[in-house]
Amino acid sequence: MNENIADHSSLAVEAPAEISRRRFFEKLSIALAGFCAAVVGMPLVGFIIAPFFRKPPEEWVTLGKVNDFQIGKTVNVTVIDPSSLPWAGVTAKSAVWLRRASENSFIAFSANCTHLGCPVRWMEDADLFMCPCHGGVYYNDGQVAAGPPPRPLFRYDVRVEKGEVKMKSVVVPIVTTL
Ligand code: FES
Repeated sequence: MNENIADHSSLAVEAPAEISRRRFFEKLSIALAGFCAAVVGMPLVGFIIAPFFRKPPEEWVTLGKVNDFQIGKTVNVTVIDPSSLPWAGVTAKSAVWLRRASENSFIAFSANCTHLGCPVRWMEDADLFMCPCHGGVYYNDGQVAAGPPPRPLFRYDVRVEKGEVKMKSVVVPIVTTL
């Protein structure tokens, strides 16, 4: 009886060599799991935080030939946002309201309301830009006339080059707190 007890207790106590081997494999498993997590996780983390460090390109985008536009008229022009990603598809399309103010002078207004970004419409008869979302109204120079918009319509830099109207494409700030 006493021998059996002595045998069991000898099984329960591991030899020092056995303990160190087990610890070694435990640490190796933890290290391998950490390595695998890093290999799998790093691209994901990079994918999430990369946009915060990517500086959007500022490019001169062609809006059309000078003679495509009538003096005094304000028209909607579709532009491709150069900051969009290659797979953006139709979402890369944006719009500006372009007015030919004189022979060689153009004004390009952002088509997005400065309240919450809804597309504004040029109402030629009223000589106003109107936002359908919350009733924002802008004068023909883009200044706020009524409603919740906190700022005038954003104006892009425009230049005429070799008979073409070009607009400097930048990311338009759309916030309500500024
Ligand atoms: Fe234009 Fe609100 S988004 S008034």
